[in-house]
Amino acid sequence: MNLLIMGLPGAGKGTQAERIIDAYHIPHISTGDMFRAAISNETALGLEAKSYMDKGELVPDSVTNGIVKERLAEKDTEKGFLLDGFPRTLEQAKALEEMLKELDKKIDAVINIDVPSEILVERLSGRFMCRDCGATYHKVFNPTKVENTCDRCGGHNFYQREDDKPETVKNRLSVNIEQGQPILDFYAEKGLVQAVDGNREIDAVFNDVQKIIER
Ligand code: AP5
Ligand code: ZN
Repeated sequence: MNLLIMGLPGAGKGTQAERIIDAYHIPHISTGDMFRAAISNETALGLEAKSYMDKGELVPDSVTNGIVKERLAEKDTEKGFLLDGFPRTLEQAKALEEMLKELDKKIDAVINIDVPSEILVERLSGRFMCRDCGATYHKVFNPTKVENTCDRCGGHNFYQREDDKPETVKNRLSVNIEQGQPILDFYAEKGLVQAVDGNREIDAVFNDVQKIIER
């Protein structure tokens, strides 16, 4: 099962991805997570990615395509994978086609989580993350069950993402709105896009996601 999860920043891709990988045991390939790991490890890739991410801009296709190509060639993708945050441009979508052709794989479904943009700003400004396992929370919509303790790993280290500052959020949204539609059109032509109303409770959204996966 080879899945793509799409949606604007804050739509809930990462939140749904956590549930999908826990339920279906496929690797989660998030370009955003890969860049954030590179930044915290202070690698050359991290240094380059940070200069774009801090402004809410996209990292250049040549860089992003390279890391995805390497990751898809790893052995654990044999049973399937969930791509999150990639492709982000039509160029990336075309590059992905080529990569998959070489690996003799194809995308089975593109799950598009739809949320009105005015709601996304509120979601991003209240988001916080577990530093130990990467789990995503929200101050109001999805707090930890026990205060200051991660539901998933029991850790107590939380942080807010650099790019969740209001000025950066505005630019991330406009960049992604502009780039997103051509990609959806590209996959709609192939009959792969499955829309999910993401403006509901997390569990209700996941219910629909599961129906798509199990169809
Ligand atoms: P990336 O990490 O991919 O971020 P993004 O697309 O901006 O998406 P987010 O992670 O912000 O949102 P999400 O949809 O995962 O929402 P979440 O589940 O956290 O990319 C970051 C940057 O890296 C990019 O700007 C770019 O610079 C670079 N980059 C990455 N990929 C790239 C690529 N392919 N090419 C070029 N550059 C790339 O949810 C948000 C909040 O809402 C959370 O607090 C959550 O708890 C809450 N929430 C979730 N679902 C619900 C719900 N149903 N109801 C209420 N609250 C909810
Ligand atoms: Zn955790």
